[in-house]
Amino acid sequence: MLVCIPEVLSKSDVAEFRRIMDAAEWEDGRATAGAQSAMVKRNEQLPADGEVARALGQRIVSALTKNPRFLSAAIPLQIFPPLFNRYAASGGHHFGIHVDNAVRGDPLTGLRIRTDLSITLFLAEPEEYDGGELVIEDTYGSHEVKLPAGDAVLYPSSSLHMVTPVTRGARVASFFWMQSMIRDAHVRSMIFDLDNVIQGLAGRLGRDDPETVRLTGIYHNLIRHWAEV
Ligand code: NI
Repeated sequence: MLVCIPEVLSKSDVAEFRRIMDAAEWEDGRATAGAQSAMVKRNEQLPADGEVARALGQRIVSALTKNPRFLSAAIPLQIFPPLFNRYAASGGHHFGIHVDNAVRGDPLTGLRIRTDLSITLFLAEPEEYDGGELVIEDTYGSHEVKLPAGDAVLYPSSSLHMVTPVTRGARVASFFWMQSMIRDAHVRSMIFDLDNVIQGLAGRLGRDDPETVRLTGIYHNLIRHWAEV
């Protein structure tokens, strides 16, 4: 399941992020790649343990953890510190097809997570660059994603995905992973669906409607049944 989360960051936040990132030192993106993905990865990243990535990453995590759509779709247990990448046409940058590492450890904090969900937060407007589509494969085929700056897409870390070559301008983004309390993607997707239905009913009938209250109870009891915390 792919879930788009609009306006995680405001346009003014994005502009501020871009000013800070433009002034920072970048390194070869292969610094954080596994053996297979290093062979197909050509981009630049902000150093993962650098002050800039940590400070901006913290702002993204804090925005996301206040975002009801994100919380409902991801039911996050642990969020990995966000990383930042840049694909420039001048560097011939792209990232060939790969699956993200199953487990990620952060040397700075000692945090270690199973990667259930991957997220890309776009920090460049689609008009700023050509190419650079995030292509995600699932059982329904492959999906091309290119969102407005400030918007994010959440997708299963188990899926094959790639970033097509950037042929004009530069694609700037943040990307990271999280472990969900609900490991099973199918179960997580049904619980998200149920939550959306409940929000729709609550809007129409009111939160104190007796059946809506019972359905809300079922929602929480399903999470109680499935959650690993
Ligand atoms: Ni990836």
